[in-house]
Amino acid sequence: MTALLDAAERLDRKELEALQLERLRATLQHAYDHVGFYRAAFDAAGLRPDDCRSLADLARFPFTTKTDLRDNYPFGMFAVPEDQVRRIHASSGTTGRPTVVGYTQADLDTWADVVARSIRAAGGRPGQKVHVAYGYGLFTGGLGAHYGAERLGCTVIPASGGMTARQVQLIQDFRPEIIMITPSYMLTLLDEFERQGVDPRTTSLKVGIFGAEPWTQEMRREIEERFAIDAVDIYGLSEVMGPGVAQECVETKDGLHIWEDHFYPEVVDPLTGEVLPEGEEGELVFTSLTKEAMPVIRYRTRDLTRLLPGTARVFRRMEKVTGRSDDLVILRGVNLFPTQIEEIVLRTPGVAPHFQLRLTREGRLDALTVRAEARAESTPDQRAAAALAIATAVKEGIGVSVGVEIVDPETLERSVGKFKRIVDERGGR
Ligand code: DLL
Repeated sequence: MTALLDAAERLDRKELEALQLERLRATLQHAYDHVGFYRAAFDAAGLRPDDCRSLADLARFPFTTKTDLRDNYPFGMFAVPEDQVRRIHASSGTTGRPTVVGYTQADLDTWADVVARSIRAAGGRPGQKVHVAYGYGLFTGGLGAHYGAERLGCTVIPASGGMTARQVQLIQDFRPEIIMITPSYMLTLLDEFERQGVDPRTTSLKVGIFGAEPWTQEMRREIEERFAIDAVDIYGLSEVMGPGVAQECVETKDGLHIWEDHFYPEVVDPLTGEVLPEGEEGELVFTSLTKEAMPVIRYRTRDLTRLLPGTARVFRRMEKVTGRSDDLVILRGVNLFPTQIEEIVLRTPGVAPHFQLRLTREGRLDALTVRAEARAESTPDQRAAAALAIATAVKEGIGVSVGVEIVDPETLERSVGKFKRIVDERGGR
């Protein structure tokens, strides 16, 4: 295995930290010199790029938020002349202006390298075929996976999202070893395999690289079991690069190694902004170390996780993301993430892994209904038992009462990419 590692993956921790500090100082200078927003923010904090003399000094610098990127729409955060920007991506977000990101040729090369490294960590090898079912377009999933797979020396099948019946056909005919797809869309494919009378355990697939949305260990077990593949986690966000910021290694499946030679992580208290020690849960914050077109300094991801020491690689790990602070539901004072419901639904006999959360208003109180789908073979008694089991597990495990509706098979909306777990029917607030 060591023979396959690239130069940065072979550094020891001390060498890595020296490289990070050198790159961090250069990035702060680049941002200060070329982006008005950063110059103003550093000046306001009374800081110069040179004030960063150690990695810990980064904590003195101001945060960057999604609102800052929106306020500088479209190209105000770019640090190079527009004619040096080779590509633009954007994330739609739920409201308002999209967030725009730009890449120079060197940035695109870095991105392809980190995705190639990710696919290799997942167990992919040159010469294998990669079916990319992340959407192509302004979303970074499709093109990010695509160029990384090519960089590793794989054959890419650029299926993109949607046209589910055709996806299944292509997998059978082209026989890819690897699939890159959101976990929720993989479940949609599962149904389609079964509809076409194909046993999903008999396909050519060996590894699935799943990301773009939170998913649980229970979901990993379900997918690994139903497809007879290894399921590993890939993480990323457009503002920092796209997919390939962090990746789980297939040999350990113990959280995601952050490609720390390019992306410097911190975990902070979401309320106070204070940097938390390794092992404590909080909001993940990233500073890019090599980006040219759009460096980001202490970007608040809103994703909740904890940092852990490296295992299969020298790079630190992040635990599987529990959720985004935006997806947090506060129900009668109790905090609840959709991933907590996922764990419960996937453990409950008689229901399929498809579920959605409906938020409504009853008088002045918010109410949550878990809608889960019965398995085709479930009897009415089994459905009633499943409803009771889910309600009880939520009450005991999370500490709040929710409604549970077990609906007929194939009635809930299916994912074709990033899935919207919460349907908010509370109206204007
Ligand atoms: O979702 C990039 C990506 C594409 C990652 C394909 C992995 C695979 P955005 O659309 O900007 O970029 O959304 C980023 O998605 O802040 C997380 O909230 C969530 N997310 C991405 N990967 C994971 C993951 C892409 N593995 C936002 N686990 C991030 C949990 C994830 N959440």
